[in-house]
Amino acid sequence: MIAFLTKLPSRWISLTFRQPPTGATVAPKANLSTAPPEPVVPSKKPIKVELIGGKHYSWCSCGYSRKQPFCDGAHKTRAQGMTPLRFVPEKDSTVWLCGCKHTNNPPYCDGTHKQDFIVSAPLHEYTD
Ligand code: FES
Repeated sequence: MIAFLTKLPSRWISLTFRQPPTGATVAPKANLSTAPPEPVVPSKKPIKVELIGGKHYSWCSCGYSRKQPFCDGAHKTRAQGMTPLRFVPEKDSTVWLCGCKHTNNPPYCDGTHKQDFIVSAPLHEYTD
């Protein structure tokens, strides 16, 4: 058996090839599967924002938006399968929204950005 695992810009692809038993006349079998896409890290700090109660917001969950921490629709082409988190605050408030996109309490920062896997992660660079 030969297995490959590679990461494309927005998803993981694993391929497994199985050889038929010696002397068999069956062609090798290939399996294609994808894992959920992972967000990129556009910032390693939370972003302080003033929210207006009753207003609809879309927090970027993929990290590709140029309007951090909010969605600009980039997920539609850069991170297919990911969607922004839509939320409506009850009242006006000043909050810290997650900028690293790995919080366990989206859209709010929970301190995950201090963990080694974020500290050592490459920052997403906007190329276009
Ligand atoms: S910025 Fe993502 S958890 Fe703090």
